[in-house]
Amino acid sequence: MSRPAEPTATYNYHVVRQFTIATLLWGVIGMATGVFIAAQLVWPALNFDLPWISFGRLRPIHTNLVIFAFGGGALFATSFYVVQRTSRVRLISDRLAQFVFWGWQLALVAIIATYLLGYTASKEYAEMIWPIATWMTLVWIAYAWLFFRTIARRTVKHIYVGNWFYGAFIIVTGMVHVINHISIPISLMEAYPVYAGATDAMIQWWYGHSVVGFILSVGFLGMMYYFVPKRAERPIYSYRLSIVHFWAIIALYIWAGPHHLHYTALPDWAQSLGMVMSIILLAPSWGGMINGMMTLSGAWHKLRTDPVLRFLVVALAFYGMSTFEGPMMAIKTVNALSHYTDWTIGHVHAGALGWVAMISIGTIYHMLPQLYGRKEMYSVGLINAHFWMATIGTVLYIVAMWVNGITQGLMWRAVNVDGTLTYSFVEALSASHPGYVVRLIGGGTFAAGMLLMAVNCWLTIRQPKSAQEPVQTLQGVS
Ligand code: HEM
Ligand code: HEM
Repeated sequence: MSRPAEPTATYNYHVVRQFTIATLLWGVIGMATGVFIAAQLVWPALNFDLPWISFGRLRPIHTNLVIFAFGGGALFATSFYVVQRTSRVRLISDRLAQFVFWGWQLALVAIIATYLLGYTASKEYAEMIWPIATWMTLVWIAYAWLFFRTIARRTVKHIYVGNWFYGAFIIVTGMVHVINHISIPISLMEAYPVYAGATDAMIQWWYGHSVVGFILSVGFLGMMYYFVPKRAERPIYSYRLSIVHFWAIIALYIWAGPHHLHYTALPDWAQSLGMVMSIILLAPSWGGMINGMMTLSGAWHKLRTDPVLRFLVVALAFYGMSTFEGPMMAIKTVNALSHYTDWTIGHVHAGALGWVAMISIGTIYHMLPQLYGRKEMYSVGLINAHFWMATIGTVLYIVAMWVNGITQGLMWRAVNVDGTLTYSFVEALSASHPGYVVRLIGGGTFAAGMLLMAVNCWLTIRQPKSAQEPVQTLQGVS
């Protein structure tokens, strides 16, 4: 069947380029902040007794920057890229695209400034005070309008599966953000939440888990469904599986939030429901992972020569690992050991570094030369070096946290025959110190890799334009 020619020259790549560069910059800043707070956990003196650079203020700056600025930036950039190419139509409005880009950057700067000054709504990943949360809602509505109206104007009948995932990420993130932030303002900087007690906790973790589920998983799966087939130059392994994957993951993720509140005042049935839904979630998560992996059937040899594809495949492997670990940690008896320990931090970064960051990195290496009309990245050697730094860094980070987490869990629960605690809290803390040093080395290596990437991207952009833009085909993806 013949396809209409792709209007490459008419796509809005400007906003994609802006978000790509922003992703790189925020990635470096957000991860450098991560390295600094990791260092503070090794040497607490690095707090310097200055409130605005204390661990408590920098930690949410790290989490918000890596999730909303780095992860979010990668999702804005790629969703705009993918929606235009698979719908074969330009974004409906350049002005609105600029509003989304600058509006989002403004929100991020406001987040950093207010957190440094100590203004917070005190909900994890939703610390932004109400004026910022409201502003983010407006920008998000503009983003949703741009994305869905562009799909509505598509010149092909079909809506590619990647767009379904991006679409779900946009709708659910907006929904949980608004519901979790409902509050009554009492001044410009302060507001009373409308929820209280266990209800407040439940709404917060319904939001918190949906951030994990719909930003850090579903959004990046949208990315995976476009860029893995593209890079491997193979059609997606099973289109049918991708549809089953989509509906199953959408139906399940939203119920899993209570696994963050095991053994709390939350009703027992709600905890058990969260546990069961989390265990079932393993199936669609692995379905998606296998679909991505099997796309490489017949193209595995490419891994030997293409470090970009290696980033994408290793990301899928870490996705599989963290979505196996998550359901295990959701089992109440396992959670009794893992909760409050560094095991959770290890799980988070297996997903965050191994999956979210790796797939974004691979995607940017794939996309950047095309966005700037360059033939290829400046240096494949640097990409190779980056690949090993990212992989070794991630492994050091998560292994250190596993060891720490299990050590802490076991030391906290150890009791003597007379019922008293065997270890004091401080003893468990000093047993964790070597793990914090290893995490610092691993995280530092990962962040140094990001710096290498920024340099490689900069050198790529500075190269002369290639005479002819690489030919793009949509083989296998629409
Ligand atoms: C099937 C998939 C998954 C399940 C069932 C799951 C389950 C869990 C569980 C049980 C916890 C510990 C809750 C606690 O004890 O406080 C947790 C924490 C967390 N998970 Fe997952 N996980 C999954 C996948 C992922 C992925 C892919 C990411 C991506 C980065 C991720 C990010 C997080 C984060 C950020 C937290 C920490 C939340 C917090 O306490 O601040 N998870 N997850
Ligand atoms: C260079 C790499 C990184 C380093 C060194 C690093 C370091 C840290 C540290 C030290 C913490 C605080 C842990 C604690 O409170 O005990 C943390 C928390 C966190 N980081 Fe990172 N991080 C890095 C990259 C990332 C990335 C890329 C993401 C997401 C895409 C991420 C997401 C998070 C989240 C969600 C938490 C909160 C976890 C929780 O509350 O359970 N980090 N990170």
